[in-house]
Amino acid sequence: MFETHIPPEPDKILRVMAEFAADPRPDKIDLGVGVYRSEAGTTPVLRAVKAAEARLLDEQTTKGYVGLAGDPHFHAAMRTLVLGNTVPADRIAALATPGGTGAVRQAFELIRLVRPGAVVHTSAPTWPNHESILDTLKMPWRPYRYYDPATGGADAEGMMADLDAVAEGDVVLLHGCCHNPTGADLSVSQWVELADLLARRGAVPMIDLAYQGFGMGLDADVEGLRALAQRLPEALITLSGSKNFGLYRDRVGLVLALCDGPTVRDAIQGRLAWLNRQTYAFPPDHGAAVVTTILGDAGLRGDWEAELGDMRSRILSMRQSLAVQLRSETGSERFDFLTAHQGMFSRIGATPEQVLQLREQHAVYMVGDGRINMAGLTPGIVAPSARAIAAVLG
Ligand code: LMR
Repeated sequence: MFETHIPPEPDKILRVMAEFAADPRPDKIDLGVGVYRSEAGTTPVLRAVKAAEARLLDEQTTKGYVGLAGDPHFHAAMRTLVLGNTVPADRIAALATPGGTGAVRQAFELIRLVRPGAVVHTSAPTWPNHESILDTLKMPWRPYRYYDPATGGADAEGMMADLDAVAEGDVVLLHGCCHNPTGADLSVSQWVELADLLARRGAVPMIDLAYQGFGMGLDADVEGLRALAQRLPEALITLSGSKNFGLYRDRVGLVLALCDGPTVRDAIQGRLAWLNRQTYAFPPDHGAAVVTTILGDAGLRGDWEAELGDMRSRILSMRQSLAVQLRSETGSERFDFLTAHQGMFSRIGATPEQVLQLREQHAVYMVGDGRINMAGLTPGIVAPSARAIAAVLG
């Protein structure tokens, strides 16, 4: 049965992780996988998470199953964090999943079930696993223009032109904030323009939100998303607690399905729970319970927001230092576009050959498309990273 099997190509991002780990050079620099790291180069357990876990250890009385769709308190806490009061709760179905990737998978599964043949329109570029999961599910997808390498910003005009041709019932996959891999986000007015366009076309947005709080702030990062959600009858939102709660390995994820009224909501809620049942039955609850505890307690929440704010500031300061250093290394402003980006990622405009050269000659690791993770930088390695980038791209 197994002897003729050909394994798949390794994931483009996770491959960098393995190659970095295998490199024996002591001064190697990891700007690859999208994981937050502190100035000490570690990925800490957040203070509020530790406190919430201690509380759960003390107070949790059962490890019995939660519902198929997860804990309704978790749904409500995350729904409010993301949407505030912009959409009435009785229009929103929710499904807890193992991580943001689980949420993406279940959202795609839902689309395939309720609208077989719907094309999912993905930003060019997007997180490679979006395309990979769509291929795995044999769902049609088509890229729309998004990133303009000439300016280093979003090509909103190209995007709107491409999306003006989508069919009714098609799905448009968007990044809620901190676009992965480019760091180029839309302005709030562009989100509003997009909402009008989708309403006109009868297309449904699916917004993947994995970095809320890493760009400008918890509310500022979702202003565009909220404007869109407010204006449309239907939307899918996929959430991750990996980054902003630092709960990577505990797999915290959620699908929110915004429906056109409570009756439709109930039907979709039933279908979502069924999808979990077919896949892994009950979703994991430990990480979700940590999140619910933090968001439901003023003290823990305040501390979480403060620590998240510190992470955001650190990323921003690394981003700015890198841009300054690249300015002095190249004697030009060609990398200034990095300062306009949001979140952990930017594409520096390296070709695959240059990415390889950076790795082989300078031990600087990044994803093959030239994506760098700013949180991989520390004050001590900004200068050598900039020197390497300038030497290779110069
Ligand atoms: C990334 O984009 O690097 C992260 O989201 C990690 C992953 O699973 O790809």
